[in-house]
Amino acid sequence: MRRIGLVNQKGGCGKTTTVINLAACLADLGRRVLLIDLDPQGHAALGLGVDADEIEEGIYEVLSGEMSIAETIHTIHDNLDAVFSDVVLSAFEQVMAGTPGREYKLTKALVDIQGRYDYLIIDSPPSVGLLTFNGLMASDEVIIPVDPSYFSLQGLGKLLDTLRIIEEKVDHPISIKILATNVDRRTVFCRQVIEALHHHFPGGCFQTVIHVCTRLKEAASQGKPIAQYDRTCNAYGDYRDLAGEILAQEREVLQAAESPSFTLHPERAPEKEPARMVTFKIAAPLHAKVQIAGDFNGWKPEGLDFDGSPDQPAWWKQFTLKPGSYQYKFLVDGRWISDPKNEQRADDSLGGLNSVVSV
Ligand SMILES: Nc1ncnc2c1ncn2[C@@H]1O[C@H](COP(=O)(O)OP(=O)(O)O)[C@@H](O)[C@H]1O
Ligand SMILES: [Mg+2]
Repeated sequence: MRRIGLVNQKGGCGKTTTVINLAACLADLGRRVLLIDLDPQGHAALGLGVDADEIEEGIYEVLSGEMSIAETIHTIHDNLDAVFSDVVLSAFEQVMAGTPGREYKLTKALVDIQGRYDYLIIDSPPSVGLLTFNGLMASDEVIIPVDPSYFSLQGLGKLLDTLRIIEEKVDHPISIKILATNVDRRTVFCRQVIEALHHHFPGGCFQTVIHVCTRLKEAASQGKPIAQYDRTCNAYGDYRDLAGEILAQEREVLQAAESPSFTLHPERAPEKEPARMVTFKIAAPLHAKVQIAGDFNGWKPEGLDFDGSPDQPAWWKQFTLKPGSYQYKFLVDGRWISDPKNEQRADDSLGGLNSVVSV
């Protein structure tokens, strides 16, 4: 499952519009999509034509542990499900103050729906607080919608710095991509902003841009994604292109995710020694200091060996382990990271998650 969060502390830059229309286009293209709204304003429900009265349980109940996420899912149409929010969610930060592991509430809740969806698209509020943090913890990819205004560019640098700090705390890598929204190519300023974005973030921007289109506002007010409201307008083409661009990365992303991070080798002489050889592997920069620690080595970090090419740097270590379940983490340049390719995780009782391998 690809987990994509839409983040920008600036309101009105097109997060919710992109969440709704990207989710709907991916669903149209045959992917099973779950939309999650982490914004207490609850606009995703409005934009999908779901009345506030119909939302008795939502993401608040999930994050506060009262319900499983599966119990709060609304079916919107074929391939598209959603978990909505409402205003009670604004109390979440205060209610959770001081609770260990409060940033991981969404990540942990997602265990219940493993394998049910191809895409998770997460909307976030216009602030970088606990709710956005939960979204980031649960995301492997982040899209930052940027509308071409002077204030947006001012805010973008700060947001990227914040994301880098958060990435240090989040124990998995997050790939970040910028999406230009509300684009009016007739204005010179707009064209300059897009050029500047590509210049400052080479490879970090979507080729697709979302043009200004009043049909998007109308569609939202009618509670419909643009795909159901007007397929002849620019905005439909734009969101369709965006979905296409994301699908084009699918093979690469999924191949990376599917190549196993640990391999259990066949038993060589089971009658004498029931233990099995396990190879752990992690992709990390060539010059990084990469270590592993876990139940099997008394949680004393051990260096990994380099195996790969400079453009695909990988690190590995083998252990001989008796049958059982072992928790572990990687330590990359001093940062503890749970195995990004292993979805089996367990509480580390320090508010974070360990990876788990069963031998
Ligand atoms: N490309 C666009 N063209 C015209 N209006 C847009 C476009 N994208 C978003 N809007 C409108 O701008 C407003 C803010 O968008 P929204 O997606 O709610 O932003 P955010 O979630 O970042 O606060 C909404 O009224 C929405 O309908
Ligand atoms: Mg919004």
